[in-house]
Amino acid sequence: MIDIQPIEDQALRDLAALSGAEALEAFRIRYLGKKGVLAEWMAKIPSLSPEERREFGAAVNRCKKKIEELFEERKKSLETQPAAPEHFDETLPCPEPLSGRFHPIRETIHEITGIFSRLGFSVVDGPEIETEFYNFSALNIPLDHASRDSFDTFYTAQGQLLRSQTSTVQVRLMQKQKPPLRMIAPGRVYRPDTVDASHSFMFHQIEGLMVDDRTTFSDLKGVLHLALRELFGPEIKIRFRPHFFPFTEPSVEVDLRWGSRGWLEILGAGVVNPKVFEAAGYDPSQCQGFAFGMGVERIAMLRHGIQDIRHFYENDIRFLKQF
Ligand code: PHE
Repeated sequence: MIDIQPIEDQALRDLAALSGAEALEAFRIRYLGKKGVLAEWMAKIPSLSPEERREFGAAVNRCKKKIEELFEERKKSLETQPAAPEHFDETLPCPEPLSGRFHPIRETIHEITGIFSRLGFSVVDGPEIETEFYNFSALNIPLDHASRDSFDTFYTAQGQLLRSQTSTVQVRLMQKQKPPLRMIAPGRVYRPDTVDASHSFMFHQIEGLMVDDRTTFSDLKGVLHLALRELFGPEIKIRFRPHFFPFTEPSVEVDLRWGSRGWLEILGAGVVNPKVFEAAGYDPSQCQGFAFGMGVERIAMLRHGIQDIRHFYENDIRFLKQF
């Protein structure tokens, strides 16, 4: 004889877990349908002995009644409360979507290239894996110069290097294009510095170069002053301080007055050294120009009051969301 009890218990558990019209109907077919569990039991009754028939028949009838009753009850309760707890309520407001935006470095580059575009400078690009020629020799940096040391430059096993300055783009462009030219070249540069709040082994620079037959140091001062005022506001004070770079002569560093922090260096610049024109295949007697190079991180940190350069590279959404 069949033990009804476990199947009955299972049916009652199934019933309690039901939600939705489809599940309800599937339950009905499975237990109460023409070929359902209970119909199967009923069909067995005639083949049993008279005592078994009485006992089993009564049990099946009782079970059938119970399941039918509870099924009806469950059906009613599901109909009167159509929204089950896990029901998705499409009328609720959605969580605030995160909108994408520019990284502060990208935004600063965009701002600066925009200013120089309006002054007629075109934006150009150069490779990050470079040769000694473009990074050093063409820029009049002597073979024994400290910056060529492997402590100051990353070299590849194949004798190339990761550019340590965007000045590489100067000669690359001049080899392709005759003067007059005005270009701005943003990009990544690499130096084996120990990472701390103001140093990183990778950072960004923007190179500038203007060449024709009459550009002078006054033009350099005028262009930089204008650009820095656009960037930091009309009230800024800047200072040109004599400096040395092998590829410019004379050379300066430009400082920005920053409240209580005093003068802060923000870029290097100068009049293009005739040696650089020679390396590029220009006739130095026929051209004059200026070049400058600025650090993007430094400028972004000043503009936004960012204290630690590492914030730029950690991809922390809480930091990035602020800009
Ligand atoms: N390349 C120099 C640096 O990285 C900056 C510079 C660029 C100076 C162009 C003069 C002219 O410090």
